[in-house]
Amino acid sequence: MADLSVDICGLSLKNPTMLASGVLDETGKTMASIARAGAGAVVTKSIGREPRQGHGSPCIVELGDSLVNAMGLPNPGIDVFGRELEEAKKAGVPIIGSVFGGGEAEIAEMARLMADAGADAIELNLSCPHAKGFGAEVGSTPERVESICRAARSGLDIPMFAKLTPNTSSIVDLAKAAERGGADAIVAINTLKGMVISPEARMPVLANRFGGLSGPSIRPIGVRCVYEIRGAVKIPIIGVGGIESGNDALEYIMAGASSVQIGTAVWKHGPEVFSKVCEDISEFMNRNGFDRIFEMVGVAHEVKH
Ligand code: SIN
Repeated sequence: MADLSVDICGLSLKNPTMLASGVLDETGKTMASIARAGAGAVVTKSIGREPRQGHGSPCIVELGDSLVNAMGLPNPGIDVFGRELEEAKKAGVPIIGSVFGGGEAEIAEMARLMADAGADAIELNLSCPHAKGFGAEVGSTPERVESICRAARSGLDIPMFAKLTPNTSSIVDLAKAAERGGADAIVAINTLKGMVISPEARMPVLANRFGGLSGPSIRPIGVRCVYEIRGAVKIPIIGVGGIESGNDALEYIMAGASSVQIGTAVWKHGPEVFSKVCEDISEFMNRNGFDRIFEMVGVAHEVKH
């Protein structure tokens, strides 16, 4: 096996894969099982101040390999979730606490509470496309992204990542704003806002009508976003969207990501996807003479047609 270890903002990961927020990450036990399956780090479910039910059913539609979800940020609230975090940390990989809130003050408070609960880094969810008053509704303009990041950054002494929405005319402007506001890394991308209609029922399938599309179909958009962001910011980028294989992860890495997150493929292929992606990457590195992951980060910018 090649040396797949990476350093992301001072966090040491044994390999560049992380569990993306939203899949098998609401309990300590499932997060620990993902770590044991080979993930280099785990991002928690997005957590808010109070318990929240989320949207009613149906809240997920399967479209082949892809999903449209409108979970609506269901979570047990930070007080209860803190105990799950303790359990997850026993697995020995960095745990990144994903938080959401309705504005600068609430998101800053959530970041501090998640840090107090023991997270190794914070991921600000500025991008969920289907929860009223949260996510993309507060994270779609550079001004808000900058001011939220600035508020959350002050008083935090662990790394802070900003997870950005692709549902915008310029994710690059959001990334630059996050960097100005003090984010230590950019996570790109969250799901694409979409909907599915049942002609038979003559109505939207999701109870919330709108949801977020994830899976292989969004990978070219994610890779493009990472490529563009890489040319505009100096902080590390964590790529996410449609990764199922080592080749998919390498696309993101060569576009400029220092590590990657995997979500929908865990739902589809199970936790084994992490070791499979790592084996693929290792095999590619051995075959192509790369010793470390960082040697491949952004190389697609150097080679022109
Ligand atoms: C959810 O938990 O509702 C999904 C989170 C997201 O889309 O960011």
